Amino acid sequence: MTYDREMNVTMRAAGGRDTQQYTKAEVLMSVRNVSLAFDKPILREVNFEVHNIVRPGLNQGQVISLIGRSGIGKTQLFRILAGLQSPDSGSVAIGTDQHLVEAGEVGVVSQNYLLFNHRTIKDNLRLAMRRSDVVVSESDREQMIMQYAEAFDLSEHLGKYPMQLSGGQRQRTSIIQQILTGNKFILLDEPFSGLDALMIDKVMALLVKISTLDELNTLVIISHDVENALAISDTAFILARQPDLEGATITETLDLMRMGFAWNPEIRENADFQKLVRQMKHKI
Ligand SMILES: Nc1ncnc2c1ncn2[C@@H]1O[C@H](COP(=O)(O)OP(=O)(O)OP(=O)(O)O)[C@@H](O)[C@H]1O
Ligand SMILES: [Mg+2]
Repeated sequence: MTYDREMNVTMRAAGGRDTQQYTKAEVLMSVRNVSLAFDKPILREVNFEVHNIVRPGLNQGQVISLIGRSGIGKTQLFRILAGLQSPDSGSVAIGTDQHLVEAGEVGVVSQNYLLFNHRTIKDNLRLAMRRSDVVVSESDREQMIMQYAEAFDLSEHLGKYPMQLSGGQRQRTSIIQQILTGNKFILLDEPFSGLDALMIDKVMALLVKISTLDELNTLVIISHDVENALAISDTAFILARQPDLEGATITETLDLMRMGFAWNPEIRENADFQKLVRQMKHKI
């Protein structure tokens, strides 16, 4: 295993009471010099790395966000990260062996949720599990579906078709579907858009839960919602344009662990965090 950059950090969390230890270990995703143009440049030399975050005694997965304003190129980058589209140049490698990403090996929760409209919610979830590498018995499978449905307020909707659900219900189904496929990497395009505040909190709690189910679970959230994206992430990348240059690139990397803002469900109340949110809103 190559440890391209390893850091041991003892961090004093915001508020000064808790001391949280973490290690930034091996690289799980690396994006190198990714560029894309249509009639004009969209993405220019996008570079970033996602590291395995290790915390003693915990199954700590990774939550990364890519934040940028509408139209900047987030969905295009999302498609490239998922292996659904090739960049004009550059590469995306994933996993501890850092192989080039292929379509299908990364879970995707797209901006318009990919559910089969002619199948019920329960059948959609069953199908997701059939695609999974994890071998589970029929009864275990049913039980897992019921548990997830229960946890995310979908129990009474399992017999319905996607068109009979609200946007938020469809989105939660889509997220659960991706967990059930067993992919460790899940990319989410705008997971907070179109949801009310209560539902945003539920989705955030769901994502935090997924990120702690397995050490290697890695969520990459693509969003223009600065506050919620920063609140849930251990690391955030700002995707923006630089003066006088065409195409968006990573203009800022925020290590929220080092800042003491990571893994705190109450962080949105923190004055220093709010200040960071205001600063970043000006930068996107
Ligand atoms: N197939 C295409 N051909 C030409 N231009 C395209 C194509 N798809 C996207 N674009 C352009 O690429 C740019 C980035 O689009 P993208 O969908 O990635 O934006 P976004 O950041 O996801 O926006 P939003 O936050 O509104 O979802 C836009 O200017 C868009 O018009
Ligand atoms: Mg988009």
